[in-house]
Amino acid sequence: MKILFAPLQGYTTGIYRKAHAEIFGGVDAYYAPYLRIENGKPREKDLRDLDGDTDSGKCNSVVHAKTVPQIIANSVDEFKVLTEVLLQKGFTQIDFNMGCPFPMQVNRHRGSGLLGDTQAVQAIMGEIARQSATETARFSVKMRLGQSSPDEAFALLPILNDTPLTQITLHPRLGRQQYKGAIDIKSFEKFYSECRHPLVYNGDITSVSQICEMERRYPKLAGIMIGRGLLAQPSLAAEYKAGKANITGKEFTDKLLQMHEIIFEYACKTYQGDSQILSHIKSFWDYLEPSLPKKTFKKIQKAGKLSEYDAAIQSLIME
Ligand SMILES: Cc1cc2nc3c(=O)[nH]c(=O)nc-3n(C[C@H](O)[C@H](O)[C@H](O)COP(=O)(O)O)c2cc1C
Repeated sequence: MKILFAPLQGYTTGIYRKAHAEIFGGVDAYYAPYLRIENGKPREKDLRDLDGDTDSGKCNSVVHAKTVPQIIANSVDEFKVLTEVLLQKGFTQIDFNMGCPFPMQVNRHRGSGLLGDTQAVQAIMGEIARQSATETARFSVKMRLGQSSPDEAFALLPILNDTPLTQITLHPRLGRQQYKGAIDIKSFEKFYSECRHPLVYNGDITSVSQICEMERRYPKLAGIMIGRGLLAQPSLAAEYKAGKANITGKEFTDKLLQMHEIIFEYACKTYQGDSQILSHIKSFWDYLEPSLPKKTFKKIQKAGKLSEYDAAIQSLIME
């Protein structure tokens, strides 16, 4: 089964994706955090992150081939502006976000805020059908069950089934739950049996045994998309592909440090001053707390200067 790295704004940046592919691997595709409209045009910061992937001088072509950009939009107009810029950059596979629960987006009728509006989704799916027939692009959708009720996803499913999508990724929670609370597995199963597109499961997967269990229970699944589980255990996809948990403590820490080195070097080249560099590199460790000695994790979190940060990393090297 395919293992897809979920997009997480602020975490799965271009350099993170490159470093992960080089050091741990095992991932079939990396979904980039969404590109959005800001002040009437595609957000520059999001585009720069994707540029790292398209410029073969900066990032290797293997990573580019594996990156799927994502867009978030509330109308056909926004959708067209965003897809046009990605097509110009040479991307041919684009993911459409109908799952982001952040109030900033939901209130603008984007992400999971769009799920209750059948007409708006119908119009965007019409544009997907038009572009799939006339452009080189292919589209997938990443969505939740609804903003307030799973009825929203089931009202949309006939429209989605009639749209030429390469896959649907379903995170079986409601937007109002954000990322916590129970997963609605009953609704997932209903969606699984009624969805005519390849279906990818997303949500709370943290171990090889859970991936295998999903594969056994849902043999028609096209893949599993993993976010926080891979950030916490970057070896997870490679371990699943190898058929066993085969990365031991010392080897795991060494690989983590290699990945860190790539991201750290990039941060030092790209940003200026201790606080800017630290704000970019510290997020690498956020989800790794369970894999680190408590003291080291705290030292990293507290570091206000690069020298303090270095000392924390040195203590990990000495472990
Ligand atoms: C901080 C944060 C940022 C996220 N950014 C995005 C995003 O840009 N696009 C998207 O589709 N999902 C985004 N997500 C959702 C994740 O892709 C994923 O669906 C979610 O974390 C559940 O999967 P997991 O349990 O495997 O982490 C984000 C989640 C978090 C916590």
